[in-house]
Amino acid sequence: MSKLSLAVEISGLKLRNPLMNAAGVLGMTPDILKRVYDSGAGAVISKSIGPEPRRGHPNPTLVRVECGALNAMGLPNPGVEYFVEEIQEIKKMGVPIIASFFGGSTQEFADVAYKLSRAGADALELNASCPNVAEELGMLAADAANVEKVTAAVRDETKLPLFVKLSPNVTNIKSIAVAAEWGGADAITAVNTSKGIAIDINLRRPILANVTGGLSGPAVKPVSLRCVWEVAQAVKIPVIGCGGITTGRDAIEYILAGASALEVGTAVMTHGLDVYKEIADGITCYMENNGFTSISEMVGLAHDYENIGVDNACLGMTK
Ligand code: FUM
Repeated sequence: MSKLSLAVEISGLKLRNPLMNAAGVLGMTPDILKRVYDSGAGAVISKSIGPEPRRGHPNPTLVRVECGALNAMGLPNPGVEYFVEEIQEIKKMGVPIIASFFGGSTQEFADVAYKLSRAGADALELNASCPNVAEELGMLAADAANVEKVTAAVRDETKLPLFVKLSPNVTNIKSIAVAAEWGGADAITAVNTSKGIAIDINLRRPILANVTGGLSGPAVKPVSLRCVWEVAQAVKIPVIGCGGITTGRDAIEYILAGASALEVGTAVMTHGLDVYKEIADGITCYMENNGFTSISEMVGLAHDYENIGVDNACLGMTK
């Protein structure tokens, strides 16, 4: 009988398991990213890096809400020139790093991607989907033609595996995923946060300084999972699932919906860094109890639901 393994390969990027932190969650310094890796993630993803240092929005930028969190950080980051050194430091620690990045124009996206590639990142994640900033920085993902153009410009600048992170806040995510694939993306990350708002009834005003923010955590899981399902139907490249993953059961749902790898964010706030190991253990438990030896055997199986005859598909999953 072959040995069970959680290892995955996404467009040439080999990871010891499918779990990563979602961009922006603990992604600021090499030491913190190293802690994420040491806690059990298969790779780490940096905070989104732009062409210049950026302060982001004033506080409050984060508020806990029912079943999740709303954030409107406004893409704060130290700028690509500074971050190049951080990537080199992370690489010296032996940690696989995916650099998340953004720009204010097609040329800026391409320039930042070029610099991050030369710095030694293992892969890039093009953030086409921040809901908290002006349209040219954030909601690129609302427009398929833009996504294809920017992805193609970045593709020309790098041979690294290129993930494109899409937004759920669109009418037709399938067409946008296909545009990214045509532009040369190697994988689609589905999805960024859902746009939301929280109101302080005593002050009678929105809580976040930016008024609206991106909702993450268990509250968004069914929406994000639906996005993974639709993107997996639309493209041939791998899909990376993101949105409310907290337990092994959540991870398996995403894999069965079509995700080859997973990003975990808000669960770190609620469960601490041990959550990576807990999720990995949950995946292993499901695989053992259901006779799977690799993640790839399970990817997208739920799409075959009409032909499936499983009596007890969740055997062994306790959470
Ligand atoms: O506001 C923020 O920095 C959020 C970024 C994102 O969701 O990509």
